[in-house]
Amino acid sequence: MEDKKILCVGLVCLDIINVVDKYPEEDTDSRCLSQRWQRGGNASNSCTVLSLLGAPCAFMGSLATGPVADFVLDDFQKYPIDVSLLSEHAQCSFPASVIISNITTGSRTILHMNRNLPDVTAADFSKADLRQFKWIHWEGRNAAEQVKMIRQVKLYNDSLPQQRRITVSVEIEKTREPLYQLFPHGDVVFISKDVAKHFGFHSAAAALSGLYSRVKEGAVLICAWAEDGADALGPDGQVVHSDAFPPEALVDTLGAGDTFNAAVILTLSNGGSLQDALTFGCQVAGRKCGIQGYDGIVGK
Ligand code: ADP
Ligand code: FRU
Repeated sequence: MEDKKILCVGLVCLDIINVVDKYPEEDTDSRCLSQRWQRGGNASNSCTVLSLLGAPCAFMGSLATGPVADFVLDDFQKYPIDVSLLSEHAQCSFPASVIISNITTGSRTILHMNRNLPDVTAADFSKADLRQFKWIHWEGRNAAEQVKMIRQVKLYNDSLPQQRRITVSVEIEKTREPLYQLFPHGDVVFISKDVAKHFGFHSAAAALSGLYSRVKEGAVLICAWAEDGADALGPDGQVVHSDAFPPEALVDTLGAGDTFNAAVILTLSNGGSLQDALTFGCQVAGRKCGIQGYDGIVGK
């Protein structure tokens, strides 16, 4: 039985995480409780979680060169994640985020910096051997180019029987107009609470009903809503819900959404039901919120 991989396409960056028990006021001088570097980026985080959950997976993204890239590559190597599809860009600076992680409230505040690292292009993607993959997930970024990549997968799928086709998922997390062109291109479409609110919805269920007409026939639309858990809507018109599984103490919510996506994708890729996928997604994301980083996500 072939063990096909789940490929995640998107960002890898450096997260400089500052843990505080009180959010700093502007123009004050305060000490954080701890500080750490962590490999970040939605697609890269989802790969970390997939690998910890035992799923064969691969990451495709861009990498600058230099000491930060070395740190990131070293970290990738701690996990069984195939990174052979990384493209290196020597003249670019590495994207980084400064994060204030508040252990009192569980909030995470992210300040991004990405000066000139180009995203993966359709030309880069055309070099991938699609036969290795059973599922490809795109973190919505350079959407027009990502649509071209998804068309390549569609062409590939057209020549195959249903059971050997690659499933496509997309994540629309940021409230950026160009990302909304991704709606009709996923078999599974993840939207964030921010996107739901941007469209004027105040709950996941309302967002799913209101936005379902944008996805393609037969697709599943999923919306996570932090401590309220997550909802999903598929072609049968039934909204499925899972409550959140809050940890004993909220430690670190950074990447909770990426963790949720990974656990949902893994369940669906193994033939699990939508309800199972949501429940597992919320369970694993809840565990993630109770620990720093991702290691230890399994078996707690
Ligand atoms: P992100 O802000 O990282 O995109 P979300 O807010 O979309 O993450 O949450 C994803 C999932 O993580 C939720 O569906 C929930 O299961 C879990 N989660 C997030 N925040 C909390 C929390 N405060 N308590 C319990 N579970 C949470
Ligand atoms: C978490 C995260 C961080 C990164 C930021 C990029 O979801 O991927 O690791 O700094 O978001 O948007």
